[in-house]
Amino acid sequence: MIARLSLITIAAAAGLAAAAVSSAAQDSDYGVLHEAPGVELTYAYCAACHSEMLVAQQGLTRKHWDELLEWMVEEQGMAEIEEPDRSIVLDYLAENYNTDRPYFPRR
Ligand code: HEC
Repeated sequence: MIARLSLITIAAAAGLAAAAVSSAAQDSDYGVLHEAPGVELTYAYCAACHSEMLVAQQGLTRKHWDELLEWMVEEQGMAEIEEPDRSIVLDYLAENYNTDRPYFPRR
């Protein structure tokens, strides 16, 4: 009598592993921040300590963003942002996250 061994190859279930979570709103390198000039710097400076969501949820005038940056330095331990970066970040915030909140994150 000859016993025959058969090897069974189980093909890996394709597809499951490849199920990447992708949504149009989330595949930006800058999280929820609106892509516009200055977004790289803003993300780099402002998402270091907390979620960029905290930034995106605000809607402030340029003056109030300016004051918030001061507060971030004086009370929250943020390093002073040197020029020209500070103005670029401030412009970005005032342009995209002003009181009309055009890019308020949807959740
Ligand atoms: C050194 C760390 C640090 C950095 C860098 C930083 N923040 Fe903050 N930020 C904080 C802390 C701490 C809080 C308070 C968080 C809390 O109350 O939970 C805060 C709170 C905030 C809030 C919420 C304010 C409120 O009224 O609730 C905003 C808006 C904000 N930061 C914006 C920014 C922006 C814009 C930048 C970049 C220019 C920035 N942060 C960079 C530490 C930082």
